[in-house]
Amino acid sequence: MKTNIFLFVISFTFSTSFSHAQEGVIDLTNLHNYANQSRPAYITNRDNTPANNAITNAGATLGRVMFYDKRMSRNNSVSCASCHQQARGFADSSIASTGVAGTTGRHSMRLINSRFSNEAKFFWDERAASLEAQTTQPIRDHVEMGFSGASGDPAFTDLVNKLNAISEYRVLFAMTYGTPVINETNIQKALAQFVRSIQSFDSKYDAGRAVANDNQPFPNFTTSENNGKALFLNPPGAGGAGCAGCHSPPHFDIDPNSLNNGVIASLAGGIDLTNVRSPSLRDLVGPGGTSNGPFMHNGAFATLNQVIAHYNAVPNNPANTNLDNRLRRPGNQTQNLNLSQQQQNDLAAFMRTLTGTAVYSDVKWSNPFNANNELSMIILPSSVQSTLNTQTATCHMTCKVAPGLTYTVEKSTDLKEWTSIDTATPDAQGNLTFSTNIVPPQAFYRFTYTP
Ligand code: HEC
Ligand code: HEC
Repeated sequence: MKTNIFLFVISFTFSTSFSHAQEGVIDLTNLHNYANQSRPAYITNRDNTPANNAITNAGATLGRVMFYDKRMSRNNSVSCASCHQQARGFADSSIASTGVAGTTGRHSMRLINSRFSNEAKFFWDERAASLEAQTTQPIRDHVEMGFSGASGDPAFTDLVNKLNAISEYRVLFAMTYGTPVINETNIQKALAQFVRSIQSFDSKYDAGRAVANDNQPFPNFTTSENNGKALFLNPPGAGGAGCAGCHSPPHFDIDPNSLNNGVIASLAGGIDLTNVRSPSLRDLVGPGGTSNGPFMHNGAFATLNQVIAHYNAVPNNPANTNLDNRLRRPGNQTQNLNLSQQQQNDLAAFMRTLTGTAVYSDVKWSNPFNANNELSMIILPSSVQSTLNTQTATCHMTCKVAPGLTYTVEKSTDLKEWTSIDTATPDAQGNLTFSTNIVPPQAFYRFTYTP
C-alpha cells in the first residue's frame, strides 16, 4: 500500500519575516561564535573567566540581547549600550554619561579584552570583585538604569518580573541554562559572557608582534611608531616613558598593583584618589583614527597628546597620598620625562597602532534590535528538508533549531487538528531529528515550540 507522508515544520518567531540579514532578527538556529574565538599565540595564561561561567554561544547571545535592551532600565530609555557604544570601542564620547536620573560620577570605560585583564576587579576604583558582580551594578544604580529599590525606584525583583513577562527572554534563558528561570545570577553570568567575548587582536601592533618580539623594531611600523614603541616599553631610567611598567604589552591592561597616576580631580568636585584601574590601552582610537576618548576616570584629556603631556610632567600635588611610586622621583618630586615634541608624537603614533577593526563592525557585538527597538528571533526554520525512507517505511525529520530547548512533535491527519505525540531535543549544535514509523493512513508531522 502506498503511503504519503507530508513533513513540515511551523516556525515560532516573534514576527512573520525570516530574512537572516534583516535588522532586528536574531537567528538562534545559527548562533555567532563567541565561545571559540581565536587569539594570538602570545595572548596566553590570562583569562579571568570563572570556572562556572565559561562563554557559550547561547549565553553570550542572551547577554548581547540584554546589553542592548532598553527595557533593562526602569523607564525603558537606557541600555548598557547607551554608555558603551560599539562604534567607540564600547565607551562614550561624553565625559559623563546620561542615565535614567542624571549623569554618571565617572567617565564610561571601554569594554575591550576585559576577559584578558590581569586585574580581575572592575570599575576605575576596582570596587566590583568580578565582572559578574559588576554587571548588575549599573542596573541597580539609581542614576544609571534605576532598579535600585530606593528613592522611589523599582527593585531588582521588579526587573526579574518584567523579563519573565517577555517571551524572548523565556526562550533565551531556557536555551542558555536549560530552564527559563530568571534571577540575578543568571543575568550576571550572561552579561559577563557577552562582555568577555568582546576581543580585539587584529591591530597593526598585532600584525607586527606576530613576526617580531616587542623589543625588536616591527617591519610593518613607521620609524615614528617604532620609536614610540621603544619609549612606551623602556623605563624612564633607560630613556623611555615607562608606560609598560603599568600597561604592559601585549595586553596593555593595568598592573594589579598600580596606585593612582596623578589624575585626581573628581567630576563631583574635590579630589578622588581611588582610581587605580584602567581599561586596556588597546582601541584608544577607532579604526579611522578618531578618538574613543575622552580619557581617564574624569575624562580630563580629549587627546592622546594631552595624556602624554600629563605623564611627561606628572602634577605634584601634596594632597595625592596615593600616587604610584613609579611616577615619583627622589626628594618628593614627581615624574618629569622631558620628552621632546617629536618623542610625544612618536608615543601617540605607537598608541594608535593598538587599534583593531573587527570589534567595531562584527555583527555579533552589534545591536540586535531594529530602529523601533523590536527584535524577532528564529527558533525553528521556516521549512525543513526531510527524507522519506520508503524501504523501511520510516520517516525522518531533521532541521536546525535553537539548541537547549525542548520541542514538541505534533501529528495531524487533516492539517487542522494537531495532537502532540512526542517531544524532541536537539544536539548541542541545534540539530533536531525525529523518526517515526509510517502509520497509514496519511499523516502530517511538525515540530513546534512554545516559550
Ligand atoms: C549611564 C551610563 C552607563 C550604563 C547604562 C552602563 N554603564 Fe557600564 N560604565 C559606565 C561608567 C561611567 C563606568 C565607570 C564607572 C566607575 O568606575 O565608577 C562603567 C564601567 C563599566 C565596566 C567596568 C570596565 C572595567 O574595565 O573595569 C563594565 C564591565 C561595564 N561598565 C559594563 C556595563 C554593563 C554590562 C551595563 C549594562 C548592564 C552597563 N555597563 C551600563 C557607564 C554606564
Ligand atoms: C604607575 C602606573 C602607570 C604608569 C607608569 C602609566 N599609567 Fe597610564 N594609567 C594608570 C592608571 C591607574 C590609569 C587610570 C587613571 C584614572 O583614570 O584616574 C591610567 C590611565 C591611562 C590612560 C587612560 C585610559 C582610558 O581608558 O581613559 C591612558 C591613555 C594611559 N594611562 C596611558 C599611559 C601612558 C602613555 C603612559 C606612559 C607615558 C602611562 N599611561 C603610564 C597607571 C599608569
